[in-house]
Amino acid sequence: MTSRVRGVIARGKGEPVEVTTVLVPDPGPGEALVAVQACGVCHTDLHYREGGIGDDYPYLLGHEAAGVVEAVGDGVTSVTPGDFVILNWRAVCGECRACRRGRPWYCFATHNAQQKMTLEDGTVLSPALGIGAFVDKTLVAAGQCTKVDPAVPPEVAGLLGCGVMAGLGAAINTAPVTRGDSVAVIGCGGVGDAAILGARLAGARTIIGVDIDPRKLELAQQFGATHVINSRETDPVERIQELTGGNGADVVIEAIGRPETYLQAFYGRDLAGTVVLVGVPTPDMRLEAPLLDFFGRGGALKSSWYGDCLPERDFPMLTDLYLLDKFVSEIIALDQVEAAFAKMERGEVLRSVVKL
Ligand code: APR
Ligand code: ZN
Ligand code: ZN
Repeated sequence: MTSRVRGVIARGKGEPVEVTTVLVPDPGPGEALVAVQACGVCHTDLHYREGGIGDDYPYLLGHEAAGVVEAVGDGVTSVTPGDFVILNWRAVCGECRACRRGRPWYCFATHNAQQKMTLEDGTVLSPALGIGAFVDKTLVAAGQCTKVDPAVPPEVAGLLGCGVMAGLGAAINTAPVTRGDSVAVIGCGGVGDAAILGARLAGARTIIGVDIDPRKLELAQQFGATHVINSRETDPVERIQELTGGNGADVVIEAIGRPETYLQAFYGRDLAGTVVLVGVPTPDMRLEAPLLDFFGRGGALKSSWYGDCLPERDFPMLTDLYLLDKFVSEIIALDQVEAAFAKMERGEVLRSVVKL
């Protein structure tokens, strides 16, 4: 039986989002119907609203979510009704070229099972990142549901579904940071702070947070930064070198996605150090630097997609660590997503989380 529920949609480029009725069909083969309990407000939702990702309006927004499986379709054995799950936007398929080569964190299988949720007039909704979770119930591929400990509050667990996992994974999986490393993180929003936490969990000795906003530097220290740099006042490259015995950091994680901060990361690392780009640039951005420096400084320049995570391996481990509640800046209702976008743009929050 089709469920009639409330959801947050973006109807057109730049238009304020609205709460409306969404029709969600029962799960078909390989699918799961999930009662969403909480969903974080992520920059990617705002990018969908602003037309930065595509033109497939209307979008059903929301993708950092946790909830309870309500029903499953034929052939689903990985989850059963009642399971508490985090939704992931990249279920590992096990069959694509990346999976077969043993690099499942690059799995590029897409899930179209969910393109079945509609408005009351039959208009098909495009769910953000193949999830669509600012809604009481959502329909996903069963592989997008990762079972975790139900003792973890949903507003905390859901954050692992995107931004917090991206930052943690940039440090733990992509770099990877190891015991005793010096690490600098440029940009201390939700993603950067998660990278700081990841560096701490991995045993880094020196962790340097860099931001232009003093409020963010304060938070960075709460997540484990041993030093902070206000890069509006102090040259971050020089200061990172000073704090690392003149060498630069073993690992520098760029968590903004801008050419000038990427170059700070590039020059802020030790010879043969590692740069991890987890911030997402826009298509117009260009990098200009002497090619000789790329040769002469050696090391590794990496990017981190979704923290190179494997949901089944990483989500249960990280929820057990239980250190994530500080990322929740505020709990809001379904009709407050537009206001949350404004707070996000003013830099007032790490994460606003919708509780359903
Ligand atoms: N130098 C230093 N810090 C900066 C600069 C700059 N030039 N510009 C912005 N910042 C800081 C902001 O003050 C903020 O604290 O970067 C941080 C960005 O954080 P958020 O806006 O909260 O974004 P977040 O959710 O952390 O995502 C960061 O990662 O996954 C990607 O798409 C995401 O590109 C985005 C990035
Ligand atoms: Zn695959
Ligand atoms: Zn996201």
